Amino acid sequence: MTLKLHTHREYLELMEELTQHDKRYYDDNRPTISDYEYDRKLHLLIQYEKEHPDQIDPNSPTQRVAEAPTEGFVQKAHKTPMLSLANTYSEKEVEDFIHRVHKLLEKEKVDFCAELKMDGTAISLRYEKGKLLHALTRGNGRMGDDVTANIKTIHAVPLTLKGSFPESVEIRGEVYMSLAIFRALNAAREEEGFEPFANPRNSAAGSLKLLDPGEVTKRKLQIVCYGISEDLSSALTQGELLEQIKTWGLPVSSPKHRAICHDLKEIMHFAEKIHQERDALPFEIDGIVIKVNDLKAHALLGATGKIPRFAVAYKFAPEQAMTKINDIVVQVGRSGVLTPVAELAPVLLAGSTITRATLHNQEEIVRKDLRIGDWVWIEKGGDVIPKVTAVDLKKRARDSKPWHMPEHCPICKAVVIQQEGEVAVRCPNPHCVGQRMRSLLYFASKQAMNIEHLGEKVIEQLVEKGLVSRASDLYLLDEASLLQLDGFKEKSARNLLKSIAASRQCLLSRFIMGLGIKYVGTETAELLAEEFRDLDTLMKAQADDLVAIEGIGEKTALAIADYFHHKDHREEIQRLRTHGVQPQPLKKKMASHPFGGKTFVLTGALAHYTRDKATCCIKERGGHVSGSVSKKTDYVLAGEDPGSKYDKAKKLGIQILSEAEFTQML
Ligand code: IVH
Repeated sequence: MTLKLHTHREYLELMEELTQHDKRYYDDNRPTISDYEYDRKLHLLIQYEKEHPDQIDPNSPTQRVAEAPTEGFVQKAHKTPMLSLANTYSEKEVEDFIHRVHKLLEKEKVDFCAELKMDGTAISLRYEKGKLLHALTRGNGRMGDDVTANIKTIHAVPLTLKGSFPESVEIRGEVYMSLAIFRALNAAREEEGFEPFANPRNSAAGSLKLLDPGEVTKRKLQIVCYGISEDLSSALTQGELLEQIKTWGLPVSSPKHRAICHDLKEIMHFAEKIHQERDALPFEIDGIVIKVNDLKAHALLGATGKIPRFAVAYKFAPEQAMTKINDIVVQVGRSGVLTPVAELAPVLLAGSTITRATLHNQEEIVRKDLRIGDWVWIEKGGDVIPKVTAVDLKKRARDSKPWHMPEHCPICKAVVIQQEGEVAVRCPNPHCVGQRMRSLLYFASKQAMNIEHLGEKVIEQLVEKGLVSRASDLYLLDEASLLQLDGFKEKSARNLLKSIAASRQCLLSRFIMGLGIKYVGTETAELLAEEFRDLDTLMKAQADDLVAIEGIGEKTALAIADYFHHKDHREEIQRLRTHGVQPQPLKKKMASHPFGGKTFVLTGALAHYTRDKATCCIKERGGHVSGSVSKKTDYVLAGEDPGSKYDKAKKLGIQILSEAEFTQML
């Protein structure tokens, strides 16, 4: 690894390389190296620029704005610039930061507030007279993209601040995606043939830039706030400021994730504690941020360029390991998507032995230039299985050859296809055993029918022995057939039969999930079960009925209607029922309430309810919520600044409820 740049040529080469990485990161949301690698390279560049200030190239990433404006969004100015933090991986540099602060403030004792460094994307929320005016991304620091409509999909962001607040304030924070949502999103994307996101941060940043807020809602973004743009609050310290932001109704990090530290030792102790807890956190962090606790000192300390002197980010180096790609095998997903997987020489990484890493798709392999026999770096990101981050070309065998996706499905040998605009290559054969196996595994999985003891190995054998080829066959299995499977004894056979039998009385939402309808994940399955309450009604629904449900987009509605239209699917559902599977309709709740059977449309901002909460209140009382006003609408619940739905309701003579009337009726 290069430790220092020596010549101007080396400097220009590295500058060019980093520019490429910036493009992949900011424009494509598809970085090909880890942050750690990037920071290490950038550090070399900065070092060279410090030593040769006369040679700084105007195109250097250190001189350029971080983020280009995004098409489709209006750019607006930040009240005060959004700066970025100085990053370090070294304890020594944290020590230097502390000394610098002491010196500049001419104080012997300075308190620091150490917090989590959330790994998401920065946001600035501007409130005027307590009302959310707009939400801007950092952009180039002075101007950001107006992503207000998308931010409003985060229910934790209040449209109106609570308590007493300044006339005008910009609250700064981080928008992030939880690991659970990120993993589910990536699994669905791969299954649907889309490029998976590299990590939760890229998926949060990418989601914020979607042009359809309906799609953003599904991404379930979250937010945590960590500061304000100017000293406008009565808080004296960073700790107090966070508590103040909380009283305005915005989420801040939990007190157990911050600490007041008095010296380097205490800061390192906090960093170590957080490092140990890191794997158990439901979201990703990439280090800690250390801030001077006294807010008045922030202004005194000022900034160097775009970097303030009051804080520093101490980042955790990712755990990496080097290993060899022994082979690249291809897995077939339930919808036929082929995924290349690297079989690795076993290596220890973050406490577990790693033998496989997903390579996602052919494009990814080409981009990273990976070949069988290569020595590669692997790293644990947000995904459960690690990813290959880089290849050591110096160790490449001379006779190695580029890898290509097979032209035939590795299981059924059908000729594979690639649809236009998709990165995924698919096996087009609906009877492919590989696809069937994956569909069965999905049917039995925890989030669907939850059939215990029915894992990959068992399903593989059941299919190979011709005992099961579709889900309904599971319900015909008996002890004698299970005893044919490797490792099965009477007890294990009985346990599996018991779990299969128990799944006959499943929840309707789980049954819908198990069918594996395109674009239908847990959330949509639950929504469908709640809306339709029984399978027959759902099976009869037309795309139009489905799209009227808030939370179901056109693409999903079409996929659902299409699925139930298919003769094979209807027959399989009938077989499952004949074999005793009885999806449990949800009981009608509070059926006698006046909301029972009524259809509501929500418009405008409600002061005391989030959209979710209002929807929940209606549904609990037997009502439905629809996304658009039609003759079938019974009530329109109108909050502040209602939109065109309000006008349409008036035109159609539909009863409009104010928030107060709604509360009273509840
Ligand atoms: S304070 C001058 N505190 O880290 C900037 N930033 O460049 C002050 N971040 O994307 C930022 N967690 O959004 C601060 N507890 C925290 C943070 C945090 C994450 C992000 C920030 C920005 C990057 C810093």
